[in-house]
Amino acid sequence: MLTLHKAAAALPKPSRSRMCEFLRSFGFDPGKLFLHKLILGIETSCDDTAAAVVDESGKVWGEAIHSQTEVHLNFFISSRTGGIVPPVAQQLHRENIQRIVKEALSTSKISPSELSAIATTVKPGLALSLGVGLSFSLRLVDQLKIPFIPIHHMEAHALTIRLLNKVEFPFLVLLISGGHCLLALVRGVSDFLLLGKSLDIAPGDMLDKVARRLSLIKHPECSTMSGGKAIEHLAKQGNKLHFDIKPPMQRAKNCDFSFTGLQHVTDRIITQKEKEEGIQKGQILSSAAHIAAAVQHTTACHIAKRTHRAILFCKQRDLLPQSNAVLVASGGVASNFYIRKALEIVTNATQCTLLCPPPRLCTDNGIMIAWNGIERLRAGVGVLYNTEGIRYEPKCPLGVDISEEVGEAAIKVPRLKMEI
Ligand code: KG4
Ligand code: ZN
Repeated sequence: MLTLHKAAAALPKPSRSRMCEFLRSFGFDPGKLFLHKLILGIETSCDDTAAAVVDESGKVWGEAIHSQTEVHLNFFISSRTGGIVPPVAQQLHRENIQRIVKEALSTSKISPSELSAIATTVKPGLALSLGVGLSFSLRLVDQLKIPFIPIHHMEAHALTIRLLNKVEFPFLVLLISGGHCLLALVRGVSDFLLLGKSLDIAPGDMLDKVARRLSLIKHPECSTMSGGKAIEHLAKQGNKLHFDIKPPMQRAKNCDFSFTGLQHVTDRIITQKEKEEGIQKGQILSSAAHIAAAVQHTTACHIAKRTHRAILFCKQRDLLPQSNAVLVASGGVASNFYIRKALEIVTNATQCTLLCPPPRLCTDNGIMIAWNGIERLRAGVGVLYNTEGIRYEPKCPLGVDISEEVGEAAIKVPRLKMEI
């Protein structure tokens, strides 16, 4: 044996690139030989049907997404109800899921038999939407005889950054989207401490409502944008100081958020301006850009202040390193550059580093679900070889809630100049 090993060691090893070339000459993709595990991620928790194939190194082999935004936007105009219409979302997921998964696999040039596992969002989200992704995935894992990894949508948002950057635990995460608003400390793949959350609606929901009230869908520059994006776009043309909108919860020394008050104040301003300008509800106000700028500024200040307190709390309790701690901001609203700049002011003042996934990974996608599957597979947590009794959960908190303790600490946050 010893001699054999010695003999083998004496032979020159073919280089990896020459081996790749050799394999390619047979029409074989050598990437597949060197990768370890491939996971298909499936996301249907809200209004996007998304799928992606990701490997252990974080390489994205292929992805596909079908966004329902436009359909729901058109539905809002006719129904005037606003928000996502669950049965419509369910029907669209049903119509698209097979095509989207097929597309993700075919762009990956991966055959289903090469997959190591399937990871799918099972919580939290719209019951009707989650059900479509779950039943499709369970049929697939059953056929392929591979493990299933149930995914928490918010955990997936929180860990997406680790696909791109080498971020070690613990780090702080701020998740701000259309359905969620929370601050959490991430201590491990499935170890989260919830520091604060919105007591009413999420910031994206508020921005969507304001955008709808301003009828931005009729604005020639914003007609295809989500509410939040339309507000960001229009705010660039407005003066944030034109209207004085105070940030909410100034006296509550915790890390919770609130956005309904902000929505109502803005609503009153719009009604007042409609009277002044003598225009009907549904027409575009001449001061729409100023309103957008003011509401975006107050939203940014509110989010920045609560995040600042969370950083101070974590440092006070030695939950985060004193210097070079990482704050990750993700979710659809975190793709807003004005809000990112407000957060940067906070991280600069507290010697932290702000990291934000690129906008396409901030919004819902299949990559983050597949990546969370990889994280779980690596850590050996939540990988199911038997899917009996697995259910989706429309409501599911993130981690252990210590928000009361954060409030009891009543940390005073130093005032920062928000010059953005
Ligand atoms: O994460 P996401 O795609 O879906 C969930 O809510 O889970 O976030 C969508 C939300 C919407 O409310 C949308 O208006 C908001 O994110 N959003 C933005 C921006 N882009 C999307 N809000 C502010 N500024 C943006 N640029
Ligand atoms: Zn999301």
